[in-house]
Amino acid sequence: MKCAVCRGPAVIDLRRHNANFCADHFLKFCRDQVVRAIDEHDMIEPGDRVLVAVSGGKDSLALWDLLLELGYDAEGMTIGLGIGDYSTASTAAALAFAERRALTLRRIDLRGDYDYDIPTASAATGRVPCSSCGLSKRHLIDRAALDGGYDVVATGHNLDDEAAVLFGNVLHWHTEYLGRQRPTLAERSGPSSPGTRVFPRKVKPLVRLTERETAAYCVLRDIDYIVEECPMAEGNRHLRYKEALNAVEDASPGAKQAFYFGFLARAASRFAPDAAVTDGELRACGRCGAPTTGEVCAFCRLVERVGGQDPVPVELVRPRRGGARHRRAGTKAHS
Ligand code: AMP
Ligand code: FES
Ligand code: ZN
Ligand code: ZN
Repeated sequence: MKCAVCRGPAVIDLRRHNANFCADHFLKFCRDQVVRAIDEHDMIEPGDRVLVAVSGGKDSLALWDLLLELGYDAEGMTIGLGIGDYSTASTAAALAFAERRALTLRRIDLRGDYDYDIPTASAATGRVPCSSCGLSKRHLIDRAALDGGYDVVATGHNLDDEAAVLFGNVLHWHTEYLGRQRPTLAERSGPSSPGTRVFPRKVKPLVRLTERETAAYCVLRDIDYIVEECPMAEGNRHLRYKEALNAVEDASPGAKQAFYFGFLARAASRFAPDAAVTDGELRACGRCGAPTTGEVCAFCRLVERVGGQDPVPVELVRPRRGGARHRRAGTKAHS
């Protein structure tokens, strides 16, 4: 197996590109894909201050490293979600990466700062863990970016993630979500305060790289990441869509990128009107000032409902294969 560029010994084969690469040319390939994504989707301007949302997994650590390699001013933020050993190890991986390179990593801890954690929120609301998890992450990442004066937030969503989300949105014809599924979301200012940002710009510079590629990038760059996946996401729909797409990709390499890039190029804009309809009037949350369509934002309502409750261990809210959670006394079943 020879590198497509230099004919030296290759370390990885990329069937979707019908090419093999040596370590140096694979790392260059990764940087080139990120440069291309940033250019094509107007993600980051020279001089922008970037906040990277870091989970401690391969994608967000590779992303942070790649942005630094490309010369961007990128700091990190990580949220301790309180999902047992998984969260402890995730935070430790993010911290170790930052310390080794003397980088700034902002830290938020759900239990320490807001007196709840994801397993407890899931048990108390009777909803799948990813629901309060996603809500908490969105709110706190946006807040950290606005408070810290960052121009843009970058997350580690990769091609597999985006193709799986697209697959789910198409299966259920969630046209509103399809209208919003873009690798760059522009910042928004509030109607009552033009010029004041209420949502930061959000970008996904890894949309041109797969999971396998970000993992290989970390190995070659000697980045220690947490390999374990979130124990609460086991068997969820998103993972099933990924498996389905991987089966298609195995049979016809390149299908996944054709599906996602084809959507961006030829279909996404057609759904924009559906997203605009539900964008709605925003006002400031009465508690925290975050933008919301109601009186109090969903995050403050969650904290009010679950904050201060005794921690529920992860084992009690772990999902079963097939997506359903174990039922606990006093919680609603949720498929
Ligand atoms: P996930 O929703 O777990 O697939 O993660 C998608 C992206 O969200 C990651 O690549 C990170 O950029 C960000 N993210 C996930 N978990 C955290 C966390 N605990 N703290 C900060 N950012 C996170
Ligand atoms: Fe959010 Fe697993 S990381 S529920
Ligand atoms: Zn080479
Ligand atoms: Zn609020």
